[in-house]
Amino acid sequence: MKMTSAVRAAVLAAFVVANVVVTIQAQVKERPLPRLVKKDGRFALFVDDAPYLMLGAQVHNSSSWPASLPKVWPAMEYLHVNTVEMPVYWEQFEPRPGQYDYTLIDTLLAEARQHNVHLVLLWFGTWKNGSQHYMPEWMKLDLDRYPHMVDRNGEAVDSPSPHAMAALDADKSAFAAFMRHLKEADPQRTVLMVQVENEAGAWGSVRDYSPAAQKLFEAPVPPEILGAMQVKTASSSPNWQQAFGPDADEYFHAWAVAKYIGQVAAAGKAVYPLPMYANAALRDPLHAGPAGQPGAPGSYESGGPTDNVLAIWKAAAPALDVLAPDIYQDDDASYLKVLELYHRDDNPLFVPETGGAGKDRFFFSALGLQTIGFSPFGLDYTHKAANRSLNQADPSRPQEEFLTPWAMNYWLVGPMQREIARLNFEGKLKAVAEEPGKATETLPFTSWDAIVSFGAARNRRGAGNPKPAGRALVAQLEDGQFLVAGYFCRVDFRPAGTEQQRKSLHIVEGTQQNPSVLIDGKWRHRQFLRVEEGTYENGVFKLSRLWNGDETDWGLDFGEDPIVLRVSLATY
Ligand code: DGJ
Repeated sequence: MKMTSAVRAAVLAAFVVANVVVTIQAQVKERPLPRLVKKDGRFALFVDDAPYLMLGAQVHNSSSWPASLPKVWPAMEYLHVNTVEMPVYWEQFEPRPGQYDYTLIDTLLAEARQHNVHLVLLWFGTWKNGSQHYMPEWMKLDLDRYPHMVDRNGEAVDSPSPHAMAALDADKSAFAAFMRHLKEADPQRTVLMVQVENEAGAWGSVRDYSPAAQKLFEAPVPPEILGAMQVKTASSSPNWQQAFGPDADEYFHAWAVAKYIGQVAAAGKAVYPLPMYANAALRDPLHAGPAGQPGAPGSYESGGPTDNVLAIWKAAAPALDVLAPDIYQDDDASYLKVLELYHRDDNPLFVPETGGAGKDRFFFSALGLQTIGFSPFGLDYTHKAANRSLNQADPSRPQEEFLTPWAMNYWLVGPMQREIARLNFEGKLKAVAEEPGKATETLPFTSWDAIVSFGAARNRRGAGNPKPAGRALVAQLEDGQFLVAGYFCRVDFRPAGTEQQRKSLHIVEGTQQNPSVLIDGKWRHRQFLRVEEGTYENGVFKLSRLWNGDETDWGLDFGEDPIVLRVSLATY
């Protein structure tokens, strides 16, 4: 999976042009605020007032800042990311109550600008992976004021109580101070979004059983939660147990955590209204089990925005714009199910963390669901063992080996990232990744179907790649003109007839070499008018080579090089 040096150079040049973040240190002009926009049922993140696709990576994030930044940037450059996710730690930010240390934030801003990338900053506040390990020491030592959760047996759990009002107040103040500083220090909008907490929720107990929590558990469920979950009970103001039965503990904890984080987000937005999101440690999306069974509450982190409580989170934390899945699912079906579950009419799809061997191709599946961004985790050189085990690469192999499969996505899409974001927002783009056992996928457009096949050879139909690595995107530019890009696949087109003809079912697919259909008794065959290979530069498609003959006679084949085609079609 190596690009030739000429191709790399061309991609790099086009990428740099497409990825300019203007860096003017003195007298910086204030740029428009990044914002989420919804139109015709589709979302986009607007940056500089136009749709933007985050080609992201999250650094290995747990410690040693900022000393490890030199090990981050070479990896980011290799990947061609346009956005880097980096944490800000509460313990470092507020070493003593009310004393804020902005040095890490300023370093991140300065270095990101030097490297022409945007940032998503992650607020490691009350929660990081279900615990309070990044709370400042002065809080960790004051357990009465900043208590842990308590389990069913009265034992303290390694997770903060969402009912600790002093902790909430402290987090709100610190987060607001962080956002205030960002507002002053970042008129150029290097930071696009902020993640509020990290994988909030609890391991070790489904909810808090402290007296404060118990009192609320026995009180009526807030009406907005009853509405969001469409609860109908005999009582008009049921308590949690009456409203939700066996799910009551988990739903109660989700509400408590969401309400807390919603208030932290609102406090930050009040000073600087950047888009904000919360990320989820997931439950099994396909095999959620009842109590006592695999997949039951307790077998996953409880209280975070897992797929079953998204409506609770939306109602309890309206200041959050996005609820986002951290996808480390091993099996392909689960991975794809998660993408579907978080792509909702009230929630843009955003993948803030992901990992796993062979999962890089699902960037294309996310694109097919109009993702606003995608960000594999731990792709830097700071923590080799952890990164490699996450990506299941062989530790004896060179670093690039685990970066390359992810990097290939961005090498391909990077130069045309703004076009892709716009086409997706306009509903003109479809994308797909190979699934085992599915050798062909059909992407329907107005009057053409794009047929993507995997594992095809010269005159042989696709039978699937030996390892499912195929991926493709197709976008309609004009009537009969498409942008096509991908890896390890063949793309061809077949006339689709009009909507009326499709309805009347007078369409029969032919089997000839050129895809054909019999529409209302008349054969229509696809012909390529013009197949142009090229790249986008400053929004303009630049031709580098015309394809014809062997390159088009069997369909359009994509291998391991990043190839973008503009394809004009007609019938005969
Ligand atoms: C998910 C967390 O959100 C990340 O911060 C990191 O801990 C990863 N898991 C990988 O360990």
